[in-house]
Amino acid sequence: MKHLLSPLDLSVEELDDLLNLADRIVADPKKYSHCCDGKKLATLFYEPSTRTRLSFEAAMLNLGGSVLGFASADSSSASKGESVSDTIRVISCYADICAMRHPKEGAPMVAASKSSIPVINAGDGGHQHPTQTLTDLLTIRSLRGELGNLTIGLCGDLKFGRTVHSLIHSLIRYENVKFVLISPKELRIPDYIREDVLDANNIEYVEVEQLEDVMPKLDILYMTRVQKERFFNESEYLRMKNFYVLNAQKMQLAKPDMYVLHPLPRVNEISVEVDDDPRAAYFRQAQYGVYVRMALIMTLLEVEVN
Ligand code: CP
Repeated sequence: MKHLLSPLDLSVEELDDLLNLADRIVADPKKYSHCCDGKKLATLFYEPSTRTRLSFEAAMLNLGGSVLGFASADSSSASKGESVSDTIRVISCYADICAMRHPKEGAPMVAASKSSIPVINAGDGGHQHPTQTLTDLLTIRSLRGELGNLTIGLCGDLKFGRTVHSLIHSLIRYENVKFVLISPKELRIPDYIREDVLDANNIEYVEVEQLEDVMPKLDILYMTRVQKERFFNESEYLRMKNFYVLNAQKMQLAKPDMYVLHPLPRVNEISVEVDDDPRAAYFRQAQYGVYVRMALIMTLLEVEVN
């Protein structure tokens, strides 16, 4: 049995197969509408979510399966002190596959070690968010035609933004990918990503503070929200939260085919006036999230459609 805890749980070949399956689903969703009849997905969300939980649920419903679960720790027996290990052993009796979001880094890995069903990490603390990465990769590949030969700007909270960490891990496996890491010094990428991932693999990157200076070089601009919930100090969050605001004026500096992605939710970091720019791809990205999660559920449940 396979779990998805980190983007690296999938080899490049497995990832290509999964993205190709997602493309086939996009082209003909009806063909897949009964392939998970009788299967159940449990969504175990100990932290808030709109897109990840609901897109997982939409994905399973689109495949003909059903869903059960909880949307907060408070509404589950975690509030009475039940451990993740005990919870997953019970959920294994009720569902065929589960997606778990948890504030503690590594919690989905603990669950996987006790689970008899596939466990998908739907975000663990500031660590990883592999299904957002699958969404991002499908979006980039659909917009640009490939995942290599790109200069990717990652902007905002690179310290706590788990989507950025997972995306870097995945993209370094493709040819000629360069990163421009755009953040205030307080929210720079963690040392373990810089040293163990970027430096260790000889990946070309620069770290800068000014977004405007680098806009003309980028093929993709991946904006992120400042992660309020991970700050220990409210005044520090308030000082950082509007550090970057992408607006129509800044978009004029970008290439005509530079796409803007954002995992969402957005707070202030992209002005709503940018939404009408054809290069704003973040709502299309959210739609791709459903298709790629359909492909992931099918892959982990070993469901095939000829
Ligand atoms: N992108 C993302 O993880 O959104 P949610 O927090 O709404 O699930």
